[in-house]
Amino acid sequence: MSQEKEAKEDQPIYDPQRKEEIEKIKARMQEQIKIQDAMKKIRHKIAIMSGKGGVGKTTVAVNLAVTLHLRKFRVGLLDLDMTGPDVPLMLGMEDTVLETDGISILPALWGQGLKVISLEFLLEKKDTPVIWRGPVKAGAMKQFITEVSWGELDYLIMDLPPGTSDEPLTMAQIMPDADGTLIVTTPQDVSILDVSKCINFARTLKLPVIGIIENMSGLICPYCKNSIPLFGSGGGEGASKKYGIPLLGKIPIDPVIVTSGDQGKPFVVSHPDSPASKAFEGIVTHLIKILENQ
Ligand SMILES: Nc1ncnc2c1ncn2[C@@H]1O[C@H](COP(=O)(O)OP(=O)(O)OP(=O)(O)O)[C@@H](O)[C@H]1O
Ligand SMILES: [Mg+2]
Repeated sequence: MSQEKEAKEDQPIYDPQRKEEIEKIKARMQEQIKIQDAMKKIRHKIAIMSGKGGVGKTTVAVNLAVTLHLRKFRVGLLDLDMTGPDVPLMLGMEDTVLETDGISILPALWGQGLKVISLEFLLEKKDTPVIWRGPVKAGAMKQFITEVSWGELDYLIMDLPPGTSDEPLTMAQIMPDADGTLIVTTPQDVSILDVSKCINFARTLKLPVIGIIENMSGLICPYCKNSIPLFGSGGGEGASKKYGIPLLGKIPIDPVIVTSGDQGKPFVVSHPDSPASKAFEGIVTHLIKILENQ
């Protein structure tokens, strides 16, 4: 090959399509760096999941976050239920308007500084349904990490929608270093199947399952104080034994949890001495122990 030809091959070739591709790769890398920078400042990242809807994920996420906050940890609560964000309602924060410092979005603050972010804070009308396809939801979720100034946190609790949908998938992709997930279930036998799906999904995504929480675990009779197994019993224990995953605790049914949630008062604050609040306390103690030993 002549020297002249070799020199020509060394010349940069202007290929607009290639340039576009390189720009896209650069943008993705920059986004990844931004996510990693934000995540480095958060010690523990925990997602609340369940195989099916309505088992109490948001109730658990809110009350765990508040319990950790009351124990003086630096806590963030990220509502990742993009189509049904309920966290603001349960914390009485529906009228929150988010502010910025000119660079990032500032999380809304509850109590003495529990940091909260939800898509609901950004909707113009509260009854507007969010009809987004997966990639749009994923984009918004990444912005919740990169564009929000979370600062240094001990715990970030994330509330997910039910099942094995877009949100947990995106969460696992953008936070590969998350501590893992807590799976909420109810006591009836059929729920083991839902938990199994959830565990297999988490394992496929290489997301550790930290523990199982059994919610709506018997109704405590106001007269005799015995527990009435309204929704059966043993679901949490069954799943825990089957998969060798710790059962962090069992939260009894308490009708006041419903009214507290609807009134925006976290149950552990409004009824700190109730058996359900004690169960939340026990779960937090168990969770901290597991994470500290890891
Ligand atoms: N231990 C409990 N005792 C009584 N009511 C409860 C309990 N846990 C949750 N609830 C009530 O059950 C309903 C569903 O709870 P929640 O919204 O937390 O479930 P979810 O799993 O987040 O639902 P979704 O799948 O729709 O996001 C709420 O009205 C809540 O107040
Ligand atoms: Mg929910």
